[in-house]
Amino acid sequence: MSKKLYISTYGCQMNVYDSARMADLMAPLGYTLTDKPADADMAILNTCHIREKASEKTFSELGRLRNMRQDKEAKQDGDMIIAVAGCVAQAEGAEIMKRAPYVDMVFGPQSYHHLPQMVAQATRGVGHILETDFPVEPKFDHLPEDAIDKNLSAFLTVQEGCDKFCAFCVVPYTRGAEFSRPVAAIVDEAKRMIAGGTKEITLLGQNVNAYHGEGADGKPASLATLIQKLAEIDGLHRLRYTTSHPLEMTEDICRAHRDVEILMPYLHLPVQAGSDRILAAMNRRHTANEYRRIIDKLRHYRPDLALSGDFIVGFPGETEQEFEDTLQLVRDVEYAQAYSFKYSPRPGTPAAALGEEMIEETVKSERLARLQALLNEQQLAYNRSFVGKEIDVLLEREGKREGQLVGRSPYMQSVFVPSPAHRIGRIATVIVQEGNANSLRGELKPGSVADAA
Ligand code: SAH
Ligand code: SF4
Ligand code: F3S
Repeated sequence: MSKKLYISTYGCQMNVYDSARMADLMAPLGYTLTDKPADADMAILNTCHIREKASEKTFSELGRLRNMRQDKEAKQDGDMIIAVAGCVAQAEGAEIMKRAPYVDMVFGPQSYHHLPQMVAQATRGVGHILETDFPVEPKFDHLPEDAIDKNLSAFLTVQEGCDKFCAFCVVPYTRGAEFSRPVAAIVDEAKRMIAGGTKEITLLGQNVNAYHGEGADGKPASLATLIQKLAEIDGLHRLRYTTSHPLEMTEDICRAHRDVEILMPYLHLPVQAGSDRILAAMNRRHTANEYRRIIDKLRHYRPDLALSGDFIVGFPGETEQEFEDTLQLVRDVEYAQAYSFKYSPRPGTPAAALGEEMIEETVKSERLARLQALLNEQQLAYNRSFVGKEIDVLLEREGKREGQLVGRSPYMQSVFVPSPAHRIGRIATVIVQEGNANSLRGELKPGSVADAA
């Protein structure tokens, strides 16, 4: 009999990838996905610990799940296994068991391949299950091979974990040490994805450009080598990778942006701050000018490269002048888009211990608003610069409006075009008519998509 599995995913794209793998693992046990938690026989929250707000969502959603389970029991409509996965599970496993004792299982990002055993235990009523060790065997060796992401644009985890230990960040603690999958395993997975219909692959890693997986010769291969190998696969039209760290933006990866045709001209390269003193306090291990030079080098190889970044305002001790250094860096680089956050102290990280230097919430909010105003202005100017130009768009899905499709440009912009739905999956040339804050609007160039193929 078919059972229903509900998975709620927070946080980064790696969690999205992991949630899909959890669904793969549960399918042989008879679980099919539902988007209605009230009907679920099992509910998994795949959580994010990166900022306090993200983390607190876990507990509010757990409360809702408990109510749904009680309703189910009252209607004698069966039970519901409640599980917490992901980075909050890893960081606060014991705390979750204490605050929400009705939770059946808690497991971290490196042990979800044990799901079938854990579910068997839970259904036998073994009691609470807590799996937050970092197992010696990598989970990738234990994931089902046949069930892979078949989305037109899909994620593929190639590297996981982080050894950088930025002073504000929980990721090295929640995801563990840097680990890279072997080239052959990644190429195999990519081939299966492409056979299933995937046209665009985004390689994922917390520090994806630190990738050093085993190559064909048994020696570590770089991300640039991996990209070249993947680019040779027939039927793959687009490649991307995220997220990179400036320290590992090596010459060969910069050059790949010139040499590898299917590598898209878009790069997410977080800098966090523009002041050297703050960068040092953050343990980023590079200066603002070193970052500027990396950007220059990238643009030398790929002049039309679209840049994205992450910023934190109000890191402990940040002065007004130091914040303005961030604004200056943004003006110098000119981003196509970016993410920005107020510093959030995270338990166990070095920066959280800088108590007396904490910046007031009102100051953080004011700085964030000024930074976002500048970033939004740049994004709008960037999008408007496309009006009248032709760009290739991978048509991915239907838009909100009738008769409209949405896809991505090479530069990661969402592009809306009027088009019948049967063109989903095509890469079409679009003439851009409008550049808005968060998207482009245009029309298909006549004859640019062959309808018969
Ligand atoms: N390299 C990682 C970064 C993960 S965190 C990756 O795979 O994407 C994403 C972003 O969250 C960081 O770049 C940083 O800008 C922000 N961030 C991390 N810790 C934070 C904290 N304590 N407070 C506010 N923002 C934070
Ligand atoms: Fe966190 Fe820094 Fe590692 Fe990115 S590089 S995951 S911000 S510690
Ligand atoms: Fe969040 Fe963990 Fe990703 S903390 S951002 S889900 S690595």
